[in-house]
Amino acid sequence: MKVSVVRKKAGQVKADLRIIAVALAGETSGAVAELTDNERAAVERRAKKTGFKAKPGSKMLVQTETGDIILVGIGKKKDTEAYRRAASRAAAAAAATHAKSAAFCLGSAAGAAKFVEPVIEGFRLNAYTYDKYKSKRAGDDAPKVEAFIVAGSGLPAGAAATKIVSRMGAIIDAVFLARDLINETSSVKTPNYLVKTAKGIAKGTGLSCQVWQGARLEKERMNGIIAVSAGSMEPGAFIKMVYKPGRKARGVVAVVGKGITFDSGGLSLKPAKSMEWMKQDMSGAAAVLGVMKAVAALKPNVEVRGYIAAAENMPGERAQKPGDVITYRNGKTAEVLNTDAEGRLVLADALCVASEDKPDCIVDLATLTGACMVALGIRIAGVLGNNQKLINDLIKNGEATGERLWQLPLPDDYKADIKSGIADMQNIGSGWGGTITAALFLEAFVGDTKWAHLDIAGPAFAEKPLPYMPRGGTGFGIRALLSYIESL
Ligand code: BES
Ligand code: MN
Ligand code: ZN
Repeated sequence: MKVSVVRKKAGQVKADLRIIAVALAGETSGAVAELTDNERAAVERRAKKTGFKAKPGSKMLVQTETGDIILVGIGKKKDTEAYRRAASRAAAAAAATHAKSAAFCLGSAAGAAKFVEPVIEGFRLNAYTYDKYKSKRAGDDAPKVEAFIVAGSGLPAGAAATKIVSRMGAIIDAVFLARDLINETSSVKTPNYLVKTAKGIAKGTGLSCQVWQGARLEKERMNGIIAVSAGSMEPGAFIKMVYKPGRKARGVVAVVGKGITFDSGGLSLKPAKSMEWMKQDMSGAAAVLGVMKAVAALKPNVEVRGYIAAAENMPGERAQKPGDVITYRNGKTAEVLNTDAEGRLVLADALCVASEDKPDCIVDLATLTGACMVALGIRIAGVLGNNQKLINDLIKNGEATGERLWQLPLPDDYKADIKSGIADMQNIGSGWGGTITAALFLEAFVGDTKWAHLDIAGPAFAEKPLPYMPRGGTGFGIRALLSYIESL
């Protein structure tokens, strides 16, 4: 889809479908006033006839001789997320009307420029489909939107417009890469498949990529990855990628991803229903790959290091057993009472290495606990960590990108809940506050590095379509992290 930003009024834009967001509070949108007289009359007539109200989620399609026009309601809150969602609905309408070109008309009001990026995100992210396994690919015969235009008289032009378009292109590409990986089946996307993907990204961009597999994992005492992989035919892997800016870096950010390519639970086997979507258990790793791919294109003045702990959690005959003890690279020991709490076991390895490399901060992303979904639902991730400034910054950038994070506490005294009888820690607590005990386990491996943990078990995967998140992997976390990195 070719995206462009143009300084034009709604009445001057040529597109199969023109989109105008209208807010509640009695006001008509500026962009409606910018339609041609005939078009505006048609829109107003129809709005009157149908009693159109600009509530969030509402829309009204008007066919005119000069092309289709859709009004999308955004309610009272004219924030960026309202525009993202409006554009997402417009993308669905564009698909339904088989539009080949669509234009989001922002009008000439001051401040319209801040909606350009959200509108591109909402439209393009909603237009994603994963049809690799459809015999007849979805909508094969229907025309797709080939050109998406954002129009408004006060919008950036020239080089500034080009920059926005290419920046958004890099971000969307990264999200789509992550979605494709999450949606891929587990029998295809083994840990080694993640390795190949990482190497492919490195090759295409010039990032460095280091991989530990087999004997190297043992030599490096990556014993969490080894223990979790033991029950699988698929060997585990550890991946490290680095982006270095051309100039002196303003900082060094490490991002760490959980890459469980399938989580059966291991010997602590999950019930069938809970296993249905466990191909998504590498969403943290997918986000790291997406971030690395994007920073190679965006070239922020920050060094970014990506770390992935990849393994398949299976109950094969060599599987680790409840009661086994893992000795980590930093000397700490953990008793594995439940093999289904495997994410923290592999992340511990990666967090050790990431903190040994002494970055300014570590952010890990993991589909870690069902408890986080119980607490926050499917659209908000949990954030926990040892540094309030880092957490605040992540929350702020999450807010700006529509990727909501909510902080949960990390109280020291809860460590009693994961105290083991025979090792330093055990990998499960009593059952209460499961997101917190999981994070406390991770904390033992970051030393004194500033660290935040994003539990993305809820928002990583959409079982049903959501605004600008079609069913399947969402790529959650990438946009908030990129926004954070660019803010440094
Ligand atoms: N991958 C799961 C968590 C998960 C659940 C992610 C649902 C996405 C959707 C994780 O490895 C897991 O199994 N966690 C257990 C931990 C428990 C055994 C302490 C859980 O949440 O039940
Ligand atoms: Mn598990
Ligand atoms: Zn898991």
